[in-house]
Amino acid sequence: MDPDLWLECINCHEKFDAKKMIYTCEKCGHLLDVKYGNLERALDGDWKNKPVSVWKYSPFLPQLKEVISLNEGKTNLYHCFNLSDKLGINNLLVKNEGENPTGSFKDRGMTVGVSVAKSLENKIVACASTGNTSASLAAYAAKARINCVVFIPSGKIALGKLAQAMMYGAFILAIKGNFDEALELVQESCEKFHMYLLNSLNPYRLEGQKTIGYEIIDQLGWQVPDTIILPIGNAGNISAIYKGLLEWREIGLIDRIPRMIGIQAEGSAPIANAYKRGEKTVTFVEKPETLATAIRIGKPVNWEKAIRAIYGSEGLADTVSDAEILEAQKTLARTEGIFVEPASASTIAGLKKLIEKGEIERDERVVCVTTGHGLKDPDTAIKSCGETIQVEADINEIEKILSKIIEKPMVAHAV
Ligand SMILES: Cc1ncc(COP(=O)(O)O)c(C=O)c1O
Ligand SMILES: [Zn+2]
Repeated sequence: MDPDLWLECINCHEKFDAKKMIYTCEKCGHLLDVKYGNLERALDGDWKNKPVSVWKYSPFLPQLKEVISLNEGKTNLYHCFNLSDKLGINNLLVKNEGENPTGSFKDRGMTVGVSVAKSLENKIVACASTGNTSASLAAYAAKARINCVVFIPSGKIALGKLAQAMMYGAFILAIKGNFDEALELVQESCEKFHMYLLNSLNPYRLEGQKTIGYEIIDQLGWQVPDTIILPIGNAGNISAIYKGLLEWREIGLIDRIPRMIGIQAEGSAPIANAYKRGEKTVTFVEKPETLATAIRIGKPVNWEKAIRAIYGSEGLADTVSDAEILEAQKTLARTEGIFVEPASASTIAGLKKLIEKGEIERDERVVCVTTGHGLKDPDTAIKSCGETIQVEADINEIEKILSKIIEKPMVAHAV
């Protein structure tokens, strides 16, 4: 066993060789974490002075000979003064993960996951996906010259994401079932047909994703925010960020962990429902529903890690309705010029609700992680915004219409 890197069960703490292609504990079946024997290596070295990016934090990532990268990470952290005013808080930031190369945070996980897949000499990588994972894996597999198979719930992924996976050359299986069924099938297929699984069940994916938390603190001049809010689907991201921050606290780079707040859509909320009941085990949702297709997941594989993140950080989980998500999506776009997909807007909807409930205070420094770009799902955006104005190509006709709105202040057609 490599003394610097191994896999460890989060339940029975059995250790496994880092090169072993397993995704759950062989002894008890629970999830695995990637563990490092020498994180102190980060205390010397000049990595802190480099510009932010996923691989800036390589002392906290597996050491690999070859890295497959599309220049992921380094997404902007926006100070949202207009939205802060509207919501009645003082210090709101948005970490916009839609600015990654394929338009979602998944790229952070895939640069690490696909690099590991390559170092383990895999010829085929696979995933099940609500859309973004397939787009990202397809792109990184293309760059790595590895074949890629994706399982998607037929008819339930946003158009932009499907276009991406197709264009990057993935072999796409549209399963006549939901995401949870697709995930079970891809796991079985990986075992049977020797493909390497790159869903967030794969602990290396989460290693890349933990750099969201690192970048936030780095971009704040090494200050820790009070609260991080993010959407929960399969629950990999919240688990990853929390794990990364625990590692930083362990070696003294930070002295506290922000409250981790997870938001789920009402119809797909196994983790938030467990939290509301004060429970630490999760009852799965058999038929998850929400228009935020990225988080339309009823059996989140990382639920155990997410529960650890929420309770361990004294955070919380809550639900929002589809109507609240759509309203928040517009509000963010029309106050800050940031266009995100519905799943990502759930963080803003959740923030609004939690301010109203008094769970978030005026002076808290809050970071909302918006996980995917708005252009991923143009259909939902167009439906939610209504009709465009049809007009003859004639200046007099244009004058008639403009005269009706020209006197109105901008905010009239905002939110
Ligand atoms: C845009 C977007 N937000 C959030 C999520 C949920 O992330 P996680 O599965 O890590 O909870 C996904 C997952 O597909 C996503 O695509
Ligand atoms: Zn175990």
